[in-house]
Amino acid sequence: MCGIFAVSGETSDAGMRVLEGLKKLEYRGYDSWGIAVRAPEGHVPIEKEIGKISHVEQVFVDAHEAIGHSRWATHGGVTRENAHPHQVGRVTLVHNGIFENYKEVKEEGPDHAFLSETDTEVIAVMINHLLEEGKSSEEALRTAAEKIIGRFALLVMIEGISGILAARRGSPLIIGRGEEETFIASDIPAFLAHTNVVNYLDDDEMVHIDGAKVQFSSLQTGELIEKRNIEVPWKVEEAEKGDYPHFMIKEIFEQKETIARAINHEDALVEEAIELLQSCNGVYFVACGTAHKAAMAAEYFFAKFSHRKINVVPASEMPSFEQFINEKTAIVAVSQSGETADLLEILERGQKKGAKVLAMTNVESSTIARIADVHLPINAGPEKAVASTKATTAQMAILFLLACADGNRMNEGRQILRSVSGNINDLLNPRYEDLVRTVAQEIMNHSTLFIIGRGSLYPMALEAAIKIQEVSYIHAQGFPAGEIKHGPIALIEEGTACLVLGDDQETLSNATELKSRGAMIIGVSTTQADIFDHWLRVPDCGGAQSIATVVPIQILAYHLAVLRGLDPDMPRNLAKSVTVK
Ligand code: G6P
Repeated sequence: MCGIFAVSGETSDAGMRVLEGLKKLEYRGYDSWGIAVRAPEGHVPIEKEIGKISHVEQVFVDAHEAIGHSRWATHGGVTRENAHPHQVGRVTLVHNGIFENYKEVKEEGPDHAFLSETDTEVIAVMINHLLEEGKSSEEALRTAAEKIIGRFALLVMIEGISGILAARRGSPLIIGRGEEETFIASDIPAFLAHTNVVNYLDDDEMVHIDGAKVQFSSLQTGELIEKRNIEVPWKVEEAEKGDYPHFMIKEIFEQKETIARAINHEDALVEEAIELLQSCNGVYFVACGTAHKAAMAAEYFFAKFSHRKINVVPASEMPSFEQFINEKTAIVAVSQSGETADLLEILERGQKKGAKVLAMTNVESSTIARIADVHLPINAGPEKAVASTKATTAQMAILFLLACADGNRMNEGRQILRSVSGNINDLLNPRYEDLVRTVAQEIMNHSTLFIIGRGSLYPMALEAAIKIQEVSYIHAQGFPAGEIKHGPIALIEEGTACLVLGDDQETLSNATELKSRGAMIIGVSTTQADIFDHWLRVPDCGGAQSIATVVPIQILAYHLAVLRGLDPDMPRNLAKSVTVK
């Protein structure tokens, strides 16, 4: 949630560089934006506005240092005053995270006429006050950080002190090392056009960048820290739209390769993950949103391929079950971003109780990847559209492989997944996309859509509902196929659109029950059935059918959004990486 970006160096257009960097981070939050530069005369002017930064063409010129922020509102509504940066006295700062006790600190703190309703302005007041008391900039940041309960990634510019300070606890910050300049950002794509050499800032660390000079220290003791330079393998093109109109459709089409890449792990790493699972008595798969639906699919994979019953719980519901977590528990964290706050908290609390963490994330530098005992990267490459697509199928592919490996069937698992990958490759062509678009045209003006599926396709009915809701704003709801007669069928009227995932006899009987009440049936399956009014073919992928079934639904959701005149990459009220609770 919220993207932050800083540059310091031999450049005269730092403001524009921050603008370009923030545009690449906009998927993290897009309700307002702001940029501050250090002007040649030493003062720090700010430009900020509500609305999307993608529409901004030009900000200040002539500065060699700047910080910026793209916001997803938490404390305080979407107003210009609440947009970052916030400036108090000599201090200008941006913040990604949540300062939980800001009200108490505000009350105890010095008198100040606050201009915004944000928690962030309280941090600026604290640091400015500490500077006035004579503390150095580093000491002031450290002392202020001591008072903060919650999560933060902070970028701070101080009038009269060159360079930019940054600190982190719980929200991501990555340092990009250019030849003559240094960048700091919430995510690597923001500076990838300039450098792929990075340092990862860990929790309770701070950094002072001043041109190419970079100094890391402990946020607790001030002690200097040495860091290794790491080259990341991401390519600029992977983080750009290229010829595609939106990231979402580009990322859907990238599934031609990502599934094969996802399972391209050394056997040894998969075996290490399996050892972790097998050394424990209880296994909890914990995730949020779409990743949670991928974990639900894993429940079926494990049942079928290793005869293991796993527990799958949305991270926000996990507190009710934490009493069962102990040193014999394995927590499997599934997360695209590796930063989701609800999940991270469960993992941190679980680790304190001795539980082992196996994580699957798409961002190796993420907090969850770094705290895990074993990390299996999902290797989908940067995913920028808010609605997850290629990361979902990559997560499902790894989970499938894991289930097979747990049942001593790793080779069989790889073989099945290779054929899934080939089948999806064949499916993803412009003709198929046109066919799905035709179906989208049929239902684009419907206000409600029901989706049913049985077995491993039931979680995909839930995933289909999320995908359609989040990008097209159509009310979509998924059910286990057999459950519709216990309530939802009362909602069926003449013409109600129902997506039916699968073509097994029982699901087709349920579809017939819907059809006889007037429903329009759209089959998503390997074979055509008479009762389908429309049919989206899915290749036969055996035990991994759920992975292939999700693909046409992603394309359908995308085209519903586009046909309804919406931006599928940035749906209202949502953010890609939810780093607040
Ligand atoms: C947000 C995103 C979803 C994602 C969920 C979990 O809600 O919009 O697409 O599934 O967070 O995110 P994670 O990064 O943990 O997979």
